[in-house]
Amino acid sequence: FQGMAAGGGAVGAGYVGGPTCAVIALKCPQIEVNIVDLSQTRIDAWNSEDFSIPIYEPGLVDVVRQARGRNLFFTTEVDRCIKEADLIFVSVNTPTKKSGVGAGFAADLKCVIIILFPYVLLVCALIHVFLSQFISPSYIELATRRIAAVATSSKIVVEKSTVPCRTAESMRTILEANSKNGCRFDILSNPEFLAEGTAVNDLLYPDRVLIGSLQTPEGLAASESLSDVYANWVPKEQILTVGLWSSELSKLAANAMLAQRISSINALSAICEATGANIDEVAHAVGFDSRIGPKFLKASVGFGGSCFQKDILNLVYLSESLHLPEVAAYWRQVVELNEYQKRRFSKTVVDTLFNTITGKRIAVLGFAFKADTGDTRESAAITLIRDFLSERAQVRIYDPKVEHSQIWQDLQEAEPHLSLAEIQKQVTICPSAFDACSDAEAVVVATEWKEFRDIDWKAIYDNMEKPAFVFDGRLLLDADKLRQIGFRVKVIGRGE
Ligand code: NAD
Ligand code: UGA
Repeated sequence: FQGMAAGGGAVGAGYVGGPTCAVIALKCPQIEVNIVDLSQTRIDAWNSEDFSIPIYEPGLVDVVRQARGRNLFFTTEVDRCIKEADLIFVSVNTPTKKSGVGAGFAADLKCVIIILFPYVLLVCALIHVFLSQFISPSYIELATRRIAAVATSSKIVVEKSTVPCRTAESMRTILEANSKNGCRFDILSNPEFLAEGTAVNDLLYPDRVLIGSLQTPEGLAASESLSDVYANWVPKEQILTVGLWSSELSKLAANAMLAQRISSINALSAICEATGANIDEVAHAVGFDSRIGPKFLKASVGFGGSCFQKDILNLVYLSESLHLPEVAAYWRQVVELNEYQKRRFSKTVVDTLFNTITGKRIAVLGFAFKADTGDTRESAAITLIRDFLSERAQVRIYDPKVEHSQIWQDLQEAEPHLSLAEIQKQVTICPSAFDACSDAEAVVVATEWKEFRDIDWKAIYDNMEKPAFVFDGRLLLDADKLRQIGFRVKVIGRGE
């Protein structure tokens, strides 16, 4: 089960589908899992002999290695798998709409990944519908219609992706209106809570599995069937069964509340910088309260990733649609604060470098939206580099996992008025942190890759222009040690 980008933009593809399905196959050897995708290239990558699978996720190759060829298969035989499956997981890429009603806020349910699980000989298949988002009405709708068209027996259809409330209802309407030969379709909501970089562990030891269903006898029976699959490795008490709409809303709520914590700590980081307080100490003291807890209180240059912003904007749109403007404004502020945090950090860099960075060489360490992933979607690094480019700085980028082609693509999207050649006049992608920092005036840590902590900072210092500046946007480095070497250091959330 895996979905891939149409038109060659493959990075970031299937971060949910691949790991989820591989872990199901690993934990349920009695279940045959067929992963179906229309992209032959992607399927070939999943099937590659050297396990060069198309996404970077720690531990995932080991899982695929154990299950592939045993009960985990990758194929492009989409229709056969729909027919054979009893249980279909639909994982939809749900980007924010770019035009029309709800533009900038509402989810655009366009591309779809489907996993099919018959639960006797459970076949898990994924279909990825390759249709341009500009011509297709909705990927989820197309996928749902495809299930209805191909199915010759009853199915349970599971929403795996993050969707606006009541998407399941739309799916049911489509399926029921197109059902043939007395086929029956039950819809479940089963949102995914994994985080990238820790996906395998999150799937093996989830805090909870959430299953939403209609509270009818048929809906509850379908919920029980899905619950039985997870019960192969998840303790029953951690499998929560709720109503369909509660499940859909809970996913948006969980992401919104996680992002809200980051915006809260980032708002406090601005106060720390102005007062001389230390945000790490504040987070530690606050998080020690067991009612608050220590997790997700790491101040940063801003949260990124494909989901937080999208899901909050979804909640904003939902609130506005429900005529709840105060609620919408509340959640919108979480995103606005995040934008503010990124702007604030860029401004600190410019201000500190004597109010101009024009022509200055700035090393940006990290391009992924967080460590341990090659995913760059909504990465704060992109915004920072865009700001540096608009100040006409020379930017030198190093990231241990992000493909160079992805960096160029992201920068082109961020700077649509510049040609690639123009961008490349200002940007160099470097093979190491050391290379990126050589001759630079400043180093900006944008992603918290551990290796940045362990590099030879003395050697880097010796190779930089003086005064040499470090801007730590991730609270990653030992600032005192760097100062002893001779660096001038600015750390997010620390007033010096
Ligand atoms: P993904 O982008 O990795 O996979 C979806 C697929 O859609 C990809 O193959 C992508 O390449 C493809 N796609 C995107 N635009 C396309 C287009 N225009 N034409 C054709 N194909 C296109 O997405 P994901 O990260 O696996 O997320 C899938 C769903 O799961 C989303 O609803 C997301 O909100 C949710 N989710 C994601 C995560 C995560 O960590 N990434 C975690 C939990 C839930
Ligand atoms: C997040 C959620 O953690 C998952 O539960 C959810 O399933 C997923 O979104 C989703 O729906 O897509 P993910 O985006 O992969 O997972 O990564 P996170 O670890 O949540 O980090 C998101 C961003 O917040 C990153 O840029 C990270 O660096 C930043 N962050 C995180 C902070 O700045 N501070 C923190 O304390 C934690």
